[in-house]
Amino acid sequence: MIVAIDGPAASGKGTLGKRIAEHFGFAHLDTGLLYRAVARDVLARGAALENEMVAIDCARSLDPASLADPVLRQAGIGEAASIVARIEEVRTALLQFQREFALRKPGAVLDGRDIGTVVCPDADVKIFVTAQPEVRARRRHLERRAAGDDISYREVLNLIRQRDARDAGRASAPMRPASDAVLLDTTNLDIETAFDAAVGLIKRKIGQ
Ligand code: DC
Repeated sequence: MIVAIDGPAASGKGTLGKRIAEHFGFAHLDTGLLYRAVARDVLARGAALENEMVAIDCARSLDPASLADPVLRQAGIGEAASIVARIEEVRTALLQFQREFALRKPGAVLDGRDIGTVVCPDADVKIFVTAQPEVRARRRHLERRAAGDDISYREVLNLIRQRDARDAGRASAPMRPASDAVLLDTTNLDIETAFDAAVGLIKRKIGQ
């Protein structure tokens, strides 16, 4: 059983993916961590994020054990990840790891931007989680303020808009819902309701 969850930054797809995996006893991969790790490694080599040769090399030599690095959860690294994620060969280098992960038994939940379209086009359940940018910015702003960051709501909203445009506008595996994905708009939905809706979809698929 493969569950593909895609959607923009701060849509709630990560929390949803984690909870679905826990509920069904499936493995969970937050694929954004792979791109974040490539960005971290490019910066650690003192290179620019736009340096394609270095980024491709970092993607090819990525150590999956380093995905637990807490640095990857820091705010700015998401923007950096979005820059290296535009490079086609970086994406190709990360495909095999994701596809092998998707085969874990009894099931796997992968969340990202292109899981339903490119990584696992044959996934059993595809969910595209959205929410209006203002609502996502409000959630992200609260999180960052709680973490002691004194960024303004406007700045967070601008970052979200830039990231959406970059992730959806790139040539290689742009963020978009698969034609057979179920759209879950969390603008006016709390996490519990979104979770219940997702569980319902998966249960119907399993035939429970
Ligand atoms: O989900 P996230 O915010 O951790 O992702 C960080 C960036 O990585 C995102 O802006 C674009 C890129 N990404 C991607 O291109 N494809 C994925 N499947 C996951 C993330």
